[in-house]
Amino acid sequence: MKNLLDIESLNIEDIKLVLKRADFYKNLLKSDKSEQKKYTNILSDRVILTMFFENSTRTLTSFQMAAYRLGAKIVNWDVSSSSLSKGETFSDTLRCISGYGFDAVVVRHHEFKAPYTVQNSMECPVINAGDSWRAHPSQALLDAYTLKSLKGRIEGLKVAICGDVIHSRVANSNIELLGKMGADIHIIAPPALCPDVSKYAHVTSFDTLEEGLVGCDAVMMLRNQKERMEAADIPDDAQYFRDYGLTQERLSIAKSDAIVLQPGPMNRNVEIADDVVDDPIKSKIFEQMANGLPVRMAIFDLILSEEY
Ligand code: CP
Repeated sequence: MKNLLDIESLNIEDIKLVLKRADFYKNLLKSDKSEQKKYTNILSDRVILTMFFENSTRTLTSFQMAAYRLGAKIVNWDVSSSSLSKGETFSDTLRCISGYGFDAVVVRHHEFKAPYTVQNSMECPVINAGDSWRAHPSQALLDAYTLKSLKGRIEGLKVAICGDVIHSRVANSNIELLGKMGADIHIIAPPALCPDVSKYAHVTSFDTLEEGLVGCDAVMMLRNQKERMEAADIPDDAQYFRDYGLTQERLSIAKSDAIVLQPGPMNRNVEIADDVVDDPIKSKIFEQMANGLPVRMAIFDLILSEEY
């Protein structure tokens, strides 16, 4: 892997390699400190730049922690204190930064395919931490890792992706990745928030959770992304929860051993009921978030270490 721009540019072997390496790092993080020390310096001569044009808790923090755990150093470029506020263009900013010799850039941007713009301006590898509604490849990789580690496989699973699918880069990357790995996907969304999925043979869309959850092995809930919605698309929160909120009653329609995922951030009692988030057996949401660390360690390792 030279870059991580989207799932479309990965093949199945790349995906399997990330999942395998992530498993290695997940086990390493559970091992004693002396074992972990063998890997704390594998990227010790690398300096990684993060450029986040949108807020983030999980992605930014886990990429930073992954870098530190492998011995790399991180420079955080902060949009609010940058010279973009003085009228400098993004393209001139990238030309400037490309002269400093970073070993990789991790970028999140609201514009469609912005990581490709960064890649065209920099000599170093670029990792997409989420662009527009289009792609969030490291999230899809950690979701796949979570599914595989909890269900033992991805092929043949039936995964429901529910809610504001049309504005979701997570959904888009998951549809690509889970399709490549042989899963079937049920998209469950109100008509206004459901994209055209007719080009995908592995995707079926449903208007209601009652229809779409039947037979599902995993249920992935999505946040209503109001920052990307037209005013007309924004449903009233209480009505949305009545129509599309995941409750225990609705979850019982899925398979009895179905797990619940949510990439985060989540709005409790808008998309998902409190007692589903906190269900000690079925909810794997915080385990999924924690898997961001080993998966992003694997991504840095595969892109930056000399072994590959
Ligand atoms: N899932 C995700 O991308 O979360 P953040 O926006 O907090 O990074």
